[in-house]
Amino acid sequence: MSKIKFDLEIKFGTEYGPEEEEAVLRVLRNNAPTSGDECIRFEKEYAAYTGAGHARVVSNGSTALFLSMVGIGVGSGDRVLTTPITWIATAAAPVTLGAEVDFVDIDPVTYNIDPNAIEEKLTPNTKAVIPVHLYGQPCEMDAIMALSQKHHFHVVEDAAHAIGAEYKGRKVGTFGSTGCFSFHEQKNISTLGEGGMVVTNDPAVFEKISLYRSHCTRVHGASTKYCKLDEEKFPVGKRFWWQDFDDCGYNFRMTDMQAAVGIVQLAKADRLNQRRIDNAAYLTEGLKDIPGLTLPVVLPHNKHVFHLYPVMIDPGEFGMSKEDLIYDMLHKFGIKLGFHYIPLHYSTAFKNRGFKKGQFPNAEKLGENLVTLPINPRQTRAALDYLIDSFKKIRQS
Ligand SMILES: Cc1ncc(COP(=O)(O)O)c(C=O)c1O
Repeated sequence: MSKIKFDLEIKFGTEYGPEEEEAVLRVLRNNAPTSGDECIRFEKEYAAYTGAGHARVVSNGSTALFLSMVGIGVGSGDRVLTTPITWIATAAAPVTLGAEVDFVDIDPVTYNIDPNAIEEKLTPNTKAVIPVHLYGQPCEMDAIMALSQKHHFHVVEDAAHAIGAEYKGRKVGTFGSTGCFSFHEQKNISTLGEGGMVVTNDPAVFEKISLYRSHCTRVHGASTKYCKLDEEKFPVGKRFWWQDFDDCGYNFRMTDMQAAVGIVQLAKADRLNQRRIDNAAYLTEGLKDIPGLTLPVVLPHNKHVFHLYPVMIDPGEFGMSKEDLIYDMLHKFGIKLGFHYIPLHYSTAFKNRGFKKGQFPNAEKLGENLVTLPINPRQTRAALDYLIDSFKKIRQS
C-alpha cells in the first residue's frame, strides 16, 4: 500500500469517487452557478432523507447555527444554554447575536449534555438550548424536548457530527425547532470542504432562515400586484419584476458545484456511516483489553454514526498522560490523535465572560483525558490493525 493512501486512512473525513468527479465537471461545464437547481434538489433530498418538513442549504455548519438563532429570534437579553464540549461555533452563534451563553455539564458516559442538569440552569430569559450530538451519538431527546415543552424554550440541535444518526428510530435534527448540519472536510459527508444545512418543521422559522441567508431578498414577480417600495413607478396591474429587501441580512449561500457533490454524498451517507460503525466495532474489539482505556458506549436506543471515536484514558492505569500519548503516537507511529474538545470555558473567549475552571467537572475530565482516534470510511483492516497495534506498543515503548 502506498504511503499516501495509508496516510489518508489514518485521518478523518469522507471519501469521494468518480460520481463526485462527474458531478463537479457537469456543473462546471454549466458555468458553475450558485443557489441553482442543484441546491434546490439537494435541499429536497435532504429533507426527504431526514424526514424534516424543510431544508435550506447554507455555506457551512456555523452559518446553519447562526441562521437558526436568527430564525428563532435570539438576540440581546436572551440566554442560550449548551455544552462546554463542542466546537466554538455552537456557542459563538448566540454570542455574536448579543445573547448570553451558559454551559451545562456533560453526562460522563455519553459525553453529551446532561439533561438532568439543564433545569437548574434555566431562567425566564432562556430562549434556547443547543444540544450537540457529540461524535455522532444522539442526545437524550425525549428528556430535552419534555423540558422545552415545560419551560417554553427552543431546542436547536447541533447535528454537525451526526448526519444519519437516530434517536429511537428518528433522525436527529428533526426534534427541535431546527437541526444544523456541517459538510466540512472532516465530516461524515462533505461538499468539497465546506457546507451546511438547516432543517426545520416550522414554516415561519424556515422563511426567516431563507430570507437572512440571502440578504433578506424578496422578489416580487409578475403575479405580485405591486411592489411596496415603488408603487407609483409600477402601478397595480402592470407586469414587472422587482426586488425588495425585508431587512439587512447575509450571504450564507452554497454553490451548485458543492450541492451537486452533496447530492452524491447524501445518496451514499448510509453506506459511508455503516463503514464507520463497522470500523468502530473493530476498534472496540481490538482495544477492549488494554487497561486504562474507556471505549465509547452506544446507548441501545441510539444509532451512533461515529464521526469520531472517543477514548478516555486513565493516566495512572494506562501509564501515560493524554499529552504524552498524543505526542508519542505522532512521533513514533505517525498517527495524529485528536483532542475534541478542550472545554469552551477554558478559552479566552469564555474566560473573558466570567467562566472559571472547576465549574463543569465532567467536561473538565474529558478535556484532560480524552483523545479521538482517526475514523473514516476509507479505512482498511490493515489501517485499523496499525492503530490498535500502536496503542498496544506505545505503552511498552
Ligand atoms: C459540533 C460542531 N458544531 C458546529 C460546527 C461548525 O461547522 P462548520 O465547520 O461547517 O462551520 C462544527 C465543525 O467542526 C462542529 O464540530
